[in-house]
Amino acid sequence: MLTLQNLAATYGEGRVVDHIRLQANVGEVTCLVGRNGAGKSTTLKAIMGLIQTSADTLSLDGQDLLSLPTYDRARFGIGYVPQGRDIFQNMSVQDNLRIGLEANRQTQHVPDYIFDLFPILKDFLNRPGGDLSGGQQQQLAIARALVTDPKILILDEPTEGIQPSVIQEIGDVITKLKDKMAILIVEQYLEFVLKIADQCYLLEKGQILMSGPTATIDQTQLKHTLAL
Ligand SMILES: Nc1ncnc2c1ncn2[C@@H]1O[C@H](COP(=O)(O)OP(=O)(O)OP(=O)(O)O)[C@@H](O)[C@H]1O
Ligand SMILES: [Mg+2]
Repeated sequence: MLTLQNLAATYGEGRVVDHIRLQANVGEVTCLVGRNGAGKSTTLKAIMGLIQTSADTLSLDGQDLLSLPTYDRARFGIGYVPQGRDIFQNMSVQDNLRIGLEANRQTQHVPDYIFDLFPILKDFLNRPGGDLSGGQQQQLAIARALVTDPKILILDEPTEGIQPSVIQEIGDVITKLKDKMAILIVEQYLEFVLKIADQCYLLEKGQILMSGPTATIDQTQLKHTLAL
């Protein structure tokens, strides 16, 4: 379980998010939605230790994360797929996956289930990452996070710039994975994320405006805040 209480994050002088509280449990998909610039990616970067962060609590399964550098947060069990994917374009698919494996303390092999989820990656193992389509690169980015054997998978806008059939596949994968790990997903594509999310948090100007189970959250207010 990932727990955030009273989390704040700053770039230099400017505080971008504040008083963030959030919980993400195994067995559930938790989504964080908000308009452009609301602070969604900043919140995820704070969880990963990529920017200056303070919090009353930032923990995963009881382990304090604030005291750990980014690399150790990954090793402890956060699989992070950044916005824009960050695939190493000139490195092969296999070598991109090896980078993920460096954060795995148990094995240096890609588990078979990952190729079952994304068969295309097996076919393209020796191709440069940059030769893959946007959707395939997103699949590779998710696979690279999964090889760390994470306790939580964090996805920042996985549907951005991807064609509908692949979006559907990614949705199916997320639903399959949630029994094994907590999933925290940032999304702008509301219709997609409301279908797969169990819990929903709305971020507005750096603060959580409302939250609750997707089934009962006020979707009219949600859409109004998102200007949809
Ligand atoms: N490296 C940075 N330095 C300074 N300010 C930044 C930096 N990155 C983001 N910001 C600012 O922080 C605020 C929140 O940005 P963030 O990237 O978290 O938004 P977001 O909700 O992820 O938006 P989007 O939906 O466009 O990805 C914005 O006002 C942005 O301009
Ligand atoms: Mg963002």
